[in-house]
Amino acid sequence: MTTFSSFILGCVLVIGIVVNGAEARPRAFFIFGDSLVDNGNNNYLATTARADAPPYGIDYAPSHRPTGRFCNGYNIPDLISQQLGSESTMPYLSPELRGNKLLVGANFASAGIGILNDTGIQFVNVIRMYRQLELFQEYQNRVSALIGSPQTKSLVNQALVLITVGGNDFVNNYFLVPNSARSRQYPLPQYVKYLISEYQKLLQKLYELGARRVLVTGTGPLGCVPSELAQRGRNGECAAELQRAAELFNPQLEQMLLQINRKIGKDVFIAANTGKMHNNFVTNPQQFGFITAKVACCGQGPYNGLGLCTPLSNLCSNRGQYAFWDAFHPSEKANRLIVEEIMSGSRDYMNPMNLSTILALDAITI
Ligand SMILES: *[C@@H]1O[C@H](CO)[C@@H](O)[C@H](O)[C@H]1NC(C)=O
Ligand SMILES: *[C@@H]1O[C@H](CO)[C@@H](O)[C@H](O)[C@H]1NC(C)=O
Repeated sequence: MTTFSSFILGCVLVIGIVVNGAEARPRAFFIFGDSLVDNGNNNYLATTARADAPPYGIDYAPSHRPTGRFCNGYNIPDLISQQLGSESTMPYLSPELRGNKLLVGANFASAGIGILNDTGIQFVNVIRMYRQLELFQEYQNRVSALIGSPQTKSLVNQALVLITVGGNDFVNNYFLVPNSARSRQYPLPQYVKYLISEYQKLLQKLYELGARRVLVTGTGPLGCVPSELAQRGRNGECAAELQRAAELFNPQLEQMLLQINRKIGKDVFIAANTGKMHNNFVTNPQQFGFITAKVACCGQGPYNGLGLCTPLSNLCSNRGQYAFWDAFHPSEKANRLIVEEIMSGSRDYMNPMNLSTILALDAITI
């Protein structure tokens, strides 16, 4: 497996280079969404949704320090950047993101947010989706001032985009408290339809802003995360209503994406079935080298699933053996397995195509 992945990496390093003016550099990369892909924006905001204290970052290769990533090490965007032959994108709010660094791309994601504006209101100052898209426009204005407007347009058109959002619309909204406002307003199937229609508007906007290759991930197995096992699961079984939410949401998301592609007449949106990828190691952790996919590495209470991961929490010694780093978020090892599937997965995982196919195609057509 390692030789195979380094072979893929080798190919991608070569074909992932886009000739941009006189200078060859990897294509830009933009990230939108929630804590699964936030790499530090919330450090700059007055919010409780943050990962800026140890042991977060304990295995993060560049510094072994917390950065705001909700992981022990690299998150999914970092690992995709590596596949592009690129350095990690910086959080858009970082004051160090200026000058030529802007050409690498930017990460607009913010922990706690959802598709809906009323998701994650308890986290107060987070960057909601509509705002992330406004900041993307602001980014483009800044880059235009640097390299000119036509070059900026082509940088954005040739970029790769990743968006991960939706889990919080269930966990931190519909199911947050019994009888939540949204659950009184909609039965679950209607709520999912509403989320999909609002998500479609956001993706339409992203397209209008110039995005032409967009990886869209579904939600993970929401009912099986250590937090839900601790709060709702009976005897270690996944929480049924959250599993049902993910099972309703993911296929409708995929259908919606294929429908927009048909309307546009191009494969702009790519469905990444991270739910299915994640389910594989939840149902068969040993096959992937994990000793458990129920107990979080860092936390406290049953399954280490209660409260936050803090300097006072239990901490496992071998993070590579745990599918979950904290009560909600995958470990770096799990993220690596997910990104391997994003790169080379079959149609069941990546629809209409995997990232290695995209990179090969774009290298030919550009
Ligand atoms: C979210 O809030 C913004 C700013 O107030 C607004 O423009 C947008 O329409 C809202 N989105 C939804 C789905 O209500
Ligand atoms: C990616 O997708 C293509 C087309 O579905 C498939 O042939 C290939 O095996 C997949 N994996 C790689 C590494 O390209």
